[in-house]
Amino acid sequence: MIEYMLGKLIAQARQSVTLQKDGDLSAALGGYELVFEALRSYEELGYGQETQEIQRLVLDAQPSPEMTLYLHALILFHRRRYHAAEEAIGAALLLAPGMPLLQTLQARVRTSLGDLSGALAAYERAQELAPTSGGTREALFMLAAEQEMPGEDYYFWLQRFHELLRPASYVEVGLGHGRSLALAGPETRAVGIDPFQGVWERLNYVCPHGQATLFPLTSDDFFAQHDLREVIGTETFDLAFIDGLHLFEQALKDFINLERYAGKNSVILIHDCLPIAPIVAERERCTGFWTGDVWRIIPCLKTFRPDLQIVTIPTKPSGLAVVTGLDPESAALSENYQAIVDYYLGLKLPESAADRFRLLNVRRDDWDGIIAKYARRQGKGHR
Ligand SMILES: C[S@@+](CC[C@H](N)C(=O)[O-])C[C@H]1O[C@@H](n2cnc3c(N)ncnc32)[C@H](O)[C@@H]1O
Repeated sequence: MIEYMLGKLIAQARQSVTLQKDGDLSAALGGYELVFEALRSYEELGYGQETQEIQRLVLDAQPSPEMTLYLHALILFHRRRYHAAEEAIGAALLLAPGMPLLQTLQARVRTSLGDLSGALAAYERAQELAPTSGGTREALFMLAAEQEMPGEDYYFWLQRFHELLRPASYVEVGLGHGRSLALAGPETRAVGIDPFQGVWERLNYVCPHGQATLFPLTSDDFFAQHDLREVIGTETFDLAFIDGLHLFEQALKDFINLERYAGKNSVILIHDCLPIAPIVAERERCTGFWTGDVWRIIPCLKTFRPDLQIVTIPTKPSGLAVVTGLDPESAALSENYQAIVDYYLGLKLPESAADRFRLLNVRRDDWDGIIAKYARRQGKGHR
């Protein structure tokens, strides 16, 4: 399976090289980002030589020294070698100081290094050079997320849930390129649901500890056609992650459908519950970095399900809500579904961080300790 995925990544890298040669740089760069991001996980699995060959293929195809240095820096950035990445961009900027691409990457690297004022200066320079560039605006969102949610990103916390909870079963709605699903551990029966990405041919990551079962269906179709208990082989799931269609009414439906299979110690995680600004939380997507209005589920659950425990981890880029105390018998949401949706669609996301944090139950807690407590409730030690 790993060889199959690496073969797919080679093909993706070659396709991006062709796009670049044909003059579609923005599509090519999008492809390179996905490939380099995925390669880090294969490097960690011990496939260093193979990943280097793919990186070399891209570097060798570059038409100028500054583009070679740019892509070298991008590779280092995705390998989390931030200081080395900054050096490479510095060298590229000496060759091409007026290339906004370089300034934007410099800003991303500085953001990761925690140099937020340096990052802002690089964004401002990129903005001057390319006032209409979408890339600069997107990178600014990342800077805002770093400012509001310093520390580890949501993949880190998903991994901690897997390591500490060691769920026997894990259900993920919304797979993207498969990076979050790949975090499931060896003791976990993982299930992935996604109408577009629910087949291995579409994913970039493997589950290194054993394959997950994929369903190329919308979550609604999955729950209409399957009994989750038969799929996971147990009465209840241990951990679920909602990260599918980024609309409140769908996230709520996913929650209702999952809760029917919850035990008293099951945990549901919901992504994108802490948008950095109203513009990324519009229902109609108008930014690359987009959370949609999933956040509405938090005030909704707080009001209609006061029996639940709901907290949001302020983890970049858009928060991760943790819901426990689940009750498969509760009909409070399903019986009032349409009225609830109609009401909460009228709610406005507060502009101020303090108001958003309060509304969305954000807590900067000892999350390791809390997850360990969930694990003890489920009768588990850690891996
Ligand atoms: C943001 S991506 C998921 C990212 C992934 N969980 C991660 O963290 O790496 C959202 C995914 O939801 C999927 N999706 C959209 N509508 C859906 C639906 N109705 N049911 C399930 N998945 C859906 C999309 O195809 C997309 O792959």
